[in-house]
Amino acid sequence: MNILVTGGCGYKGHVLIPKLLDKGHNVTVIDTMWFGNFLVPNKNLKTIKADLRDSKAYSTENVDTVIHLASVANDPCADLDPILTWEVSTLATLELLIKCKRAKVKQFIYASSGSVYGVKTEPNVTEDLDLVPISAYNKTKMVAERLVLSYADTFNVQIVRPATVCGLSPRMRLDVAVNLLTAQAFKNNVMTVLGGSQVRPNIHIEDITDLYLFFVENPDLTGVFNAGFENISILNIAEQISKISSAKIEIKESNDPRSYRLDSSRLLKTGFSPKYKVSDAINQIMDALKDGFLKDTDHCYNLKWMNSIREKINI
Ligand SMILES: NC(=O)c1ccc[n+]([C@@H]2O[C@H](COP(=O)([O-])OP(=O)(O)OC[C@H]3O[C@@H](n4cnc5c(N)ncnc54)[C@H](O)[C@@H]3O)[C@@H](O)[C@H]2O)c1
Repeated sequence: MNILVTGGCGYKGHVLIPKLLDKGHNVTVIDTMWFGNFLVPNKNLKTIKADLRDSKAYSTENVDTVIHLASVANDPCADLDPILTWEVSTLATLELLIKCKRAKVKQFIYASSGSVYGVKTEPNVTEDLDLVPISAYNKTKMVAERLVLSYADTFNVQIVRPATVCGLSPRMRLDVAVNLLTAQAFKNNVMTVLGGSQVRPNIHIEDITDLYLFFVENPDLTGVFNAGFENISILNIAEQISKISSAKIEIKESNDPRSYRLDSSRLLKTGFSPKYKVSDAINQIMDALKDGFLKDTDHCYNLKWMNSIREKINI
């Protein structure tokens, strides 16, 4: 199949693209490459360094499936330039959808976010609950979902609301909960936990990328799906890290009250099942840091990195 992946040079994309190529697909990636491009060249891989907002920079002709990952991918980065965030997540998504319709694309997989629900009191957050997004990032994800769903009668639409991802990628992010705490434990032998009792869902990067592959192979499983399998407190994560590193845990006040359990029963009923645990991610990251294979640099932190390249990328 011919697959177009937007944002394919990101944290998830770097794990996903080799899996798509291994399955024999022809893959085109469009990405601004804000965080570089470490994808290994392959005869079936074409990479386009361009901004998705420039709809002339890429084509959807002969594309069977789109996997739409490109976005300004967390709350603080989205707040750096809210106009850019809205343009990328919503306006560019709409242009992409229009181009997909014209080119008769068959399948559209959208990487939304579990954070679209906002603060919930329900013990289990299912796909049927109202969305009350609380940040610009969450709001743009919600609006983009609605845009994508409005094309559900045109092509197969599969919307994934992933939990926070953890684990290793060639384009590493150390600004997501499990990865961040593991890096702190390695570097400082102490982890700073904000609050700690907030329960958050997690998903391993191998599982979320296997899930995109699963949807590529099962285009008839349409609709919106939560994807988070371990709902655990931040303190629990820190305690797991502490067991393998002897790092201490320092608790400070939190300014982020979100606490929720993502219910992924709908996804599990499709036959998809995760293979990895948060503990796997912790062990893999700790080993990579110890071996020197993974370096803790500004590049691994979206906000720090985007601040440092702001002038270059014109935001
Ligand atoms: N990592 C997580 O924990 C997580 C959780 C839920 C949802 N998501 C979503 O999954 C997607 C991928 O996340 P990630 O962790 O790989 O993020 P990432 O920041 O590593 O990757 C995003 C990629 O999109 C590219 N990009 C941004 N704006 C672009 C534009 N205008 N045109 C072309 N490329 C552009 C960036 O250069 C980057 O390579 C994002 O949409 C994110 O919101 C991520």
